Amino acid sequence: MPCILLTGATGYIGSHTWLALQDAGFDVIGVDSLVNSSIRVLDRLETIGGRQPVFVQGDVRDQAVMDRCFELGQARFGGIKAVVHFAALKAVGESVERPLDYFENNLGGLLAVCQAMKRHGVFNLVFSSSATVYGKPERLPITEDAPLRVTNPYGQTKLLGEEMLRELERCDARWHVAYLRYFNPVGAHHSGLIGEDPRGVPNNLMPYVAQVAIGKRQHLNVFGNDYNTPDGTGVRDYIHVCDLAEGHVAALRYLADKGQSLTVNLGTGQGYSVVELAQAYGKAADREIPLVFAPRRPGDVDACYADPRHAFETMGWKASRGLEQMCIDSWRWQSTNPNGFEG
Ligand code: NAD
Ligand code: UFG
Repeated sequence: MPCILLTGATGYIGSHTWLALQDAGFDVIGVDSLVNSSIRVLDRLETIGGRQPVFVQGDVRDQAVMDRCFELGQARFGGIKAVVHFAALKAVGESVERPLDYFENNLGGLLAVCQAMKRHGVFNLVFSSSATVYGKPERLPITEDAPLRVTNPYGQTKLLGEEMLRELERCDARWHVAYLRYFNPVGAHHSGLIGEDPRGVPNNLMPYVAQVAIGKRQHLNVFGNDYNTPDGTGVRDYIHVCDLAEGHVAALRYLADKGQSLTVNLGTGQGYSVVELAQAYGKAADREIPLVFAPRRPGDVDACYADPRHAFETMGWKASRGLEQMCIDSWRWQSTNPNGFEG
């Protein structure tokens, strides 16, 4: 089976995609600097997948690290066929404080990955983009042809990354790219052995709610209850991380079979409010999630959810797991690993 290189492989989405690829019969090599993940992910991947992970620790911006990945791919699996590029910094607030670090890591990283791919004659790339490229949407649900605009340096690295890759494709027909615009990935693998393990105070809703449920935080601050939504709280398109991971398998098959690029939303098409998510989580964890209404968070939009039809029409992929499953699986991970991968 073809071998796929995953950058950012021990991160939240990378680790779940690793398993989805193995389940689909692919060989996998992972590379990660561990700037935002734990080496212990590898033991968990081995326990779940029954195979020792082939992993290179290092920064994708380091040419020697990338060459080592491709050489390992050649020696172990007869060559890497495609790359899924997850490696990036992803905290919106931090990107406003440290924009140059975000440009350097996310754009410098993408450039270095493409250069390494070219050196080794590999031209199929899956790029982790984000619904953040749509900014404040004019129309809901959001289709892929909606206007693109961003409001922070993190978002800018995704938009510029997409633009750089589109220019690359225009100049050199060998390149084929799957631009995957993720909505809000949540949940965890059903084994409860891997999941999201944020460092410090979680920025995102479900990991924060999970820490309230386990008793690490007293209540959820609900950022704004005067939005133009049915209950006044922000509405998002939460997608189970295992559905998202399977979207990468579909994208890799599409690139291999069709030999052309594609841009797709990876979402469910269903929006849920902050209060709805907190209630669903409370039910899954069988406890109350205390809510405290707080001011709006700067930069947040009322509602953001995908039109996921294009992903189904092109790649035959659609999400199958609902909000209840997302909460149950997140809670299994959180309750059995209260301190994440650190034991
Ligand atoms: P994550 O932080 O858990 O994983 C990213 C991984 O990349 C980490 O393990 C980190 O150590 C690694 N990394 C970062 N810079 C690196 C570098 N220069 N060299 C090598 N490794 C490096 O994040 P995630 O949630 O798994 O996100 C994966 C991708 O999906 C990112 O590109 C992110 O921007 C994108 N994305 C995430 C979300 C989300 O809400 N989680 C939404 C949209 C898009
Ligand atoms: N929220 C709270 N309290 C919290 C955290 C979040 O009320 O403690 C609310 C937010 O105001 C928002 C909703 O929960 O209404 C979801 O917030 P998240 O931070 O979980 O997700 P966002 O949609 O704001 O952002 C996420 C990623 C971005 C990415 C974007 C793409 O964090 O990186 O999705 O849609 F760009």
